Amino acid sequence: MSLIKARIVAIRYEARDVLSYVLAPLTPAQPLPAYAPGAHIDVHLTGALMRTYSLSNGRGDAGLYRLTVQKDPKSRGGSIYMHDSLRAGQEVEISTPRNNFELCEDAPLSVFIAGGIGVTPFIPMMARLSSLGRRWRLHYCVRTRERAAFIEEIEQLTAAGHGEAVFNFDEEPGGSMLDLNAVIASLPEGAHVYCCGPTGMLHAYQKAAERLPSECVHFEYFSSDVKAAAEGGFTVVLQKTGSEVFVKSGETILQAIRSAGVFVDSSCEEGICGACETKVISGTPDHRDMILSDRERTESKSMMICCSGCKSDRLVLDL
Ligand code: FES
Repeated sequence: MSLIKARIVAIRYEARDVLSYVLAPLTPAQPLPAYAPGAHIDVHLTGALMRTYSLSNGRGDAGLYRLTVQKDPKSRGGSIYMHDSLRAGQEVEISTPRNNFELCEDAPLSVFIAGGIGVTPFIPMMARLSSLGRRWRLHYCVRTRERAAFIEEIEQLTAAGHGEAVFNFDEEPGGSMLDLNAVIASLPEGAHVYCCGPTGMLHAYQKAAERLPSECVHFEYFSSDVKAAAEGGFTVVLQKTGSEVFVKSGETILQAIRSAGVFVDSSCEEGICGACETKVISGTPDHRDMILSDRERTESKSMMICCSGCKSDRLVLDL
């Protein structure tokens, strides 16, 4: 994937441990590529350190990218580097936007369930639905109000009249955890529901939403708790070149293909960003990503080759 350079033109405090970074093109002659609500970009921080963040653009951010990052003491280094090392005026290298979390714009109701910093992709989604005059509801779960980014911005969006927000500050007096089953059970027919937040919340959400049509259920993970398939022992056929690559025990499909000298796009390499998604022509993938729905896994039209393996002896890919 080709990278582009952008400049950090502002860094803003949003909430406790949460900062926004506003990126602008280096020159007006090279505007940042357009994106749709739900999109994310990779930010190349230093050396091998790269992180993926949703675009959290609000109404005033046309032509810019806004990223909102929560400093996580258990972070593998990305959020700490963002908070401690980046400064306004600096140039950063970023990918073009990708989107695995697309908004369905014509649903009769869109319900967003955010866990903490998982609210970021929903800001442009809610703004978009408000501009279209479509109904939406946000359930925003954060431990305390002081940790909740964008409260004012969300209140401005609800004031426009098409959406409502329900805040769950579960560590505040009288607060309680969101009842996901009750939220899902109350959805009217045809509603689309979206969830972004910690892994445990997303697992509970997917379980609660099992009875809904899969095209109405959307989710985005920040990280994966699933081990990549590295059992190996099968052959990958690259349809376009006709070459064959044997995947040995201990390596992923992506690693095996790379070792054979074939370039394939990748980014997170843990099944959450979609950069390595590859069309499957035949064979039985062993899906280990956090992106595909149950229906998409059953259909197996594509797979994430950074983390998924194969249950058959041969796997033919559109590469
Ligand atoms: S590289 Fe991110 S899903 Fe494979």
